Amino acid sequence: MTDYRNIVILTGAGVSAESGIDTFRAEGGLWEQHRVEDVATPEAFARDPDLVLRFYDMRRAAIQTKVPNGAHLALARLDREWAGNLLIVTQNVDDLHERAGARRVLHMHGEHLNAWCTACDTRHPWRGPLMDRPPCPHCGANALRPDIVWFGEMPYRMDDIYAALGQADLFVSIGTSGAVYPAAGLVREARAQGTATLELNLEPSQGTRWFDEARHGPASVLVPAWVDEVLSGQSG
Ligand code: APR
Repeated sequence: MTDYRNIVILTGAGVSAESGIDTFRAEGGLWEQHRVEDVATPEAFARDPDLVLRFYDMRRAAIQTKVPNGAHLALARLDREWAGNLLIVTQNVDDLHERAGARRVLHMHGEHLNAWCTACDTRHPWRGPLMDRPPCPHCGANALRPDIVWFGEMPYRMDDIYAALGQADLFVSIGTSGAVYPAAGLVREARAQGTATLELNLEPSQGTRWFDEARHGPASVLVPAWVDEVLSGQSG
């Protein structure tokens, strides 16, 4: 174990899979119950807002019945105990990292538990449905939508992500297929600048060849073991 100072972690649906939240591309996964084109695009929202709002109301309610698993808890422990910089960049739109206690979390694809007003561009914590078109708490307009980055839209805070990556001496990718950019390209950015790269995933991801090291298995097993290792390396 080399002594790392600054760590960037990228998580995907695989980190929440053992909490009972569908991944996107597994057999019978989330997208298979709903064609991607039907829900996760601005065009779909313009074409059939009720379908899209109903879909996200269902998902927003569902994640509130789930609990963090060992992987979320281990990453929260790392966040608490890591003396250097740490950023958990998550593609996930659930709040399980935060519910496990992690603080340094950045949701690059948005969050189920927020609503975004397209009239006044404000965001509001939101746990209930949007189907019945509640007014924006700030401007009163009937213009709230899920605060989710849809296909064709720009992920959030890419500048912050690249800035953190620029300082990182370790990049760890956990529970993501490496199918969707720009998240899937972060490992190559890291590698190009000499940052060590580690993949923790159930199976080899589409980008596994870009990682210095890859460990395959369930996140609830691999992540606690890795956190123990990196924290004991910190204590020397
Ligand atoms: N432990 C570790 N990894 C797991 C587990 C598990 N228990 N279960 C599944 N995985 C892995 C799968 O092998 C797969 O490589 O997690 C990955 C999940 O991949 P996807 O379903 O593609 O999810 P993700 O990579 O997060 O998708 C990225 O695509 O649809 C968009 O915006 C959506 O954020 C999402 C993005």
